[in-house]
Amino acid sequence: MAAPRPIPASIPAPAADAGRGASGEVIRVRGLGKTYVTAAGPFPALKGVDLNIRHGEYVAIMGPSGSGKSTFMNLLGCLDTPTLGDYFLVGRNVAHLPGDELAILRNRTIGFVFQGFNLLPRMSLEDNVALPLVYARIEREPRRARAREMLARVGLEPYALSLPARISGGQQQRVAIARALINSPSLILADEPTGNLDSHTSEEIMALFRELNDEGITIVLVTHEPDIADHARRQVRFLDGLIVHDAPTPAREAGPC
Ligand SMILES: Nc1ncnc2c1ncn2[C@@H]1O[C@H](COP(=O)(O)OP(=O)(O)O)[C@@H](O)[C@H]1O
Ligand SMILES: [Mg+2]
Repeated sequence: MAAPRPIPASIPAPAADAGRGASGEVIRVRGLGKTYVTAAGPFPALKGVDLNIRHGEYVAIMGPSGSGKSTFMNLLGCLDTPTLGDYFLVGRNVAHLPGDELAILRNRTIGFVFQGFNLLPRMSLEDNVALPLVYARIEREPRRARAREMLARVGLEPYALSLPARISGGQQQRVAIARALINSPSLILADEPTGNLDSHTSEEIMALFRELNDEGITIVLVTHEPDIADHARRQVRFLDGLIVHDAPTPAREAGPC
């Protein structure tokens, strides 16, 4: 997924009804399509997808490489525009929002987590976490205080003034999650967030996502690893630009005692 562009917005606090459309849906997608124009001609990466995600859900998006998962996530994150169909984010049809309103809606509603963490190497952890508030034009002191709070939330406040290279990959992903949380988003979009992590660290990151979901944050997470997808409560599978499976995660069987 591409990194979001800087967004000017005057107030970072979410709207009172942020996270819910009138019907309790965070995401409502109808006939969503994306055709890329390539040197070899048009390439339909997403071929008309319908999906509803309600407030508080935890959804894993699965499917083989090239099946359209990142294309779909980029559309959900308003980082790209569809060539077909409609997308309602917290009840608003984003296809018909002017660019600045869309940027504000995105900044207030969505936190992004990427496979490669996407931290700025020359900035302290605190400044990395505070970055969305810089785009929102918040003053330095309240920015700092809020960033510390978010770092404490992911257990890394003691490292606030360190550079990203001083901490492990798993810790860097926790910092990225703190950054995603700083505007109190109702939705977290994560594209392969454990793709660069070992299995033990991946489990720690998944435990953190589960806690955030238990607190009411809607999570949509892309993974191609079944073990990771099993942490979600619902699994949606893509194949060749279409959804071919959508069902609750089966209950885990108890292992042998
Ligand atoms: N910007 C682009 N231009 C042209 N083709 C693209 C672009 N982005 C993705 N694709 C193609 O669209 C298909 C779906 O890609 P993607 O959404 O990244 O799949 P996934 O995340 O499931 O691996 C792939 O065949 C990919 O090569
Ligand atoms: Mg991808």
